[in-house]
Amino acid sequence: MTMRIAAFDIRRAVLDRKQPLDEAFARFTRELSPRDRAFVRALVALSLRRKGQLDATIDACLTHPLPASAAAARHVLALGLTQVLFMGTADHAAVSSSVDLARARGFERQSGLVNAVLRRVLREAEAFRQRTATARNLPDWLFADWSAAHGADTAAAIADALLDEPPLDLSLRNPAEAPLWAERLDATLLPGGTLRCRPAGAVEDLPGFAEGAWWVQDAAAALPARLLGDVAGKRVADLCAAPGGKTLQLAAAGARVTALDRSAPRLSRLRDNLARTGLTAEIVAADAAVWTPEAPFDAVLLDAPCSATGTLRRHPDAAWIKTPADVAALHAAQRTILESAARLLAPGGVLVYCVCSLQAAEEAAAPPPGFAADPVRPDELPGWEFALRADGCLRTLPCHLPEQGGLDGFFAARFRRG
Ligand SMILES: C[S@@+](CC[C@H](N)C(=O)[O-])C[C@H]1O[C@@H](n2cnc3c(N)ncnc32)[C@H](O)[C@@H]1O
Repeated sequence: MTMRIAAFDIRRAVLDRKQPLDEAFARFTRELSPRDRAFVRALVALSLRRKGQLDATIDACLTHPLPASAAAARHVLALGLTQVLFMGTADHAAVSSSVDLARARGFERQSGLVNAVLRRVLREAEAFRQRTATARNLPDWLFADWSAAHGADTAAAIADALLDEPPLDLSLRNPAEAPLWAERLDATLLPGGTLRCRPAGAVEDLPGFAEGAWWVQDAAAALPARLLGDVAGKRVADLCAAPGGKTLQLAAAGARVTALDRSAPRLSRLRDNLARTGLTAEIVAADAAVWTPEAPFDAVLLDAPCSATGTLRRHPDAAWIKTPADVAALHAAQRTILESAARLLAPGGVLVYCVCSLQAAEEAAAPPPGFAADPVRPDELPGWEFALRADGCLRTLPCHLPEQGGLDGFFAARFRRG
């Protein structure tokens, strides 16, 4: 029961109080074993990924709405239905644990309803799955934004891709060792050197983690740093760097990296990652919008703070927490940081702006003052030509590489100082 109670508390915190899933998860699962935590995470994440279908199922089963005082009983129904419809939990376990959960969280009066709804959906599970298959599991504004930016068919393909758990992608400290680690990790090698796998256990227990042979980084997230070209021996600023995936890439490629972030806790994760992999970088805790270095850089990578809608496969909560107002505010902050980042470069220096967002408003397609666009050529990213737009910007989508398990959504643009 403690697992279901934790799942309920987390789902309520995310959807009713707009708390990020990671935060709520950390708070409500402290007492649980690693195995139980994994179950809770999978259950809540799936109940967020399938929120539209679950809501449609609940609405079809209720003859009148839940009273306002028991509105949160909807989470009990949603979590029970997630198990019945999408997790293959044993029938009696899903029903009885949901009834117990209703009682445990003060919905004694709704426990009969929970029992009746779950039993009905169990009897007609396939019919309900089909009936709700076209329900949208995303807020309307997000889907409308993607349709306008990427086309309605692509928006639908993105929505489909978000229903699946993403694979685990790893970047290697020494790319020449790819065949060795591909075999040890039972991974496939993607163009550019990312290893892709679907391990059963925890990342920390995988071969190569302790000795820092690799770090976790989605294949799409590994592309923007490559747009800086050969960085060996160059002074490179990595702005908004923590937890450091791109810092590690640049350091492994021989750059003299300054990694800047304003979050001390996130920088300590970056420090841990550097220590584990044996790589080095200068670390600066500062606001990228105002920081001034002593000397200019040869190259700057700006991984700007963003709505993170490109990583919804990992963080399905963001769809229900972020709003159009957040995107507008982020756009303004991104422009400010971009202009500030531009001031760090020596003449001829290269600036890459990137975001893990699917929103067109967060794409900085226009160069900052004194810079010109430097379109990415297809021969720079062999195997990734599909992700290059006609304007020379990089755009990956969750529905890309569907056979291999999809990608995070990233946008990147490259500019050069005149
Ligand atoms: C998308 S994450 C960066 C991921 C990182 N580049 C990587 O590859 O692992 C965005 C980061 O921006 C940082 N950030 C947000 N606003 C900032 C600002 N004004 N100055 C510096 N860092 C900022 C956040 O603390 C966060 O760590």
